[in-house]
Amino acid sequence: MHDKNYHIITYGCQMNQADSETIAGILSNRGFKTTDSIYQADLILLITCAVREHAEQRIYGKLGELMQLKNINPALVIGIGGCMPQQLEVANKLRQKFPRLDLIFGTHNLPEFETMLDRVFADREQVFEIHDIAGRITEDLPKSRIDRHKAYVNITFGCNNFCTYCIVPHVRGRERSRNPNDIINEVINLVQSGYQEVTLLGQNVNSYGLDLNRDFSFADLLKELAMLKGLSRIRFMTPHPKDISDRLIDLINKHDNICNHIHLPLQSGSSAVLRRMNRKYSKEGYLQLAQKIRDGIANCTITTDIIVGFPGESEADFADTIEVVNTVKFDAAFTFAYSKRKGTPAAGYSDQVPQMIKKQRLHRLIELVQQYMLASNQACLGQTFEVMVDGPSKKDPSILSGRTKTNKLVHFAGQYQAGDLVDLKIYRTTSFVLWGETI
Ligand code: 5AD
Ligand code: SF4
Repeated sequence: MHDKNYHIITYGCQMNQADSETIAGILSNRGFKTTDSIYQADLILLITCAVREHAEQRIYGKLGELMQLKNINPALVIGIGGCMPQQLEVANKLRQKFPRLDLIFGTHNLPEFETMLDRVFADREQVFEIHDIAGRITEDLPKSRIDRHKAYVNITFGCNNFCTYCIVPHVRGRERSRNPNDIINEVINLVQSGYQEVTLLGQNVNSYGLDLNRDFSFADLLKELAMLKGLSRIRFMTPHPKDISDRLIDLINKHDNICNHIHLPLQSGSSAVLRRMNRKYSKEGYLQLAQKIRDGIANCTITTDIIVGFPGESEADFADTIEVVNTVKFDAAFTFAYSKRKGTPAAGYSDQVPQMIKKQRLHRLIELVQQYMLASNQACLGQTFEVMVDGPSKKDPSILSGRTKTNKLVHFAGQYQAGDLVDLKIYRTTSFVLWGETI
């Protein structure tokens, strides 16, 4: 199987990004080359997201478009993986809707990806593989990473939290932690290959290690990694507010290479809604934690995820969310209208919020959140930040973009390589981006 080209389209979160890098690694080991053009591809794969209905609808549309390419190139192989087909009902719908789809596989099937690939190319028959239970963690799968200076490193897979709105535990399985040595060795190898930054990935990074019975926690792991020479920046996502320890806060503050940014999903500011979401913290608990972070970690930014219109959310509940936003003054926030996910408890709740109200609340929330984003960025004016260069900006390739330790996006001019650390003074800002110049 030589000189074949592949093109992967990834939707959704960093977990999917990490899975796509594994698939790319397997393909590259088999002699496949990556291509940016769908017209040059012999194999197109969609790695999909199921977290909201909107994401799924977009993917159906995209798949419909891509299937047309088979009319020009009948040998083209098209496959779909990730969270969408992991829901068996959706996988069956995909099979029905797109009979010429070549490969349908779930999130638990990566270890057999190579065998599936052989089958699809040899037999030219539809391959359909959805395991309903996650197997053990497979450590020896290769990775072909997109970036040369920063890398995602999985520390746990799956989730045990079962927030009542969320499909993730249903499509990613129960929480499984990687062995500390496997993680540490992977990071050492990355540093030796020139990587400067790692982002540790887990649906709830704080519960790392609980399933290993080894008395080795997320804070222990972070501490070990922070001592590695040559690793400039460590990030992690996502911590769950219910179990961020004082020790963790202390550790982040103490180590210069652990970035002073915490993504702390709020989801709702109403204790009643949080209870029904099964989040296991209250409005007051969240506010206390946010204050502890602000007090305990120098210049730490706090970003968040918020859902509006969860079933039963009253105007008073929404006002609680607004109050938490006004109190914490998030540096940035991702905001979502609640989306019913089949198979999750909240989808069956009878008190669904009408679409119009969800839209209005989302609109109000976005306006407020953007004010605080702007204020947070304006506070950076005139200050100097260390920025790690990511490369040419996606929007305007004639300028460069990079990130501060606090995870703010900065645009600037100059001759730098991805991974360079540059001190930039901020002279202009919007809600979403800072502009910096060398001093
Ligand atoms: N509807 C809307 N937003 C959701 N999220 C997860 N599930 C849903 C849903 N059913 C949001 C949460 C989560 C983020 C990744 O997506 O805010 O933190
Ligand atoms: Fe979903 Fe909750 Fe797990 Fe996050 S912690 S993946 S929101 S169930």
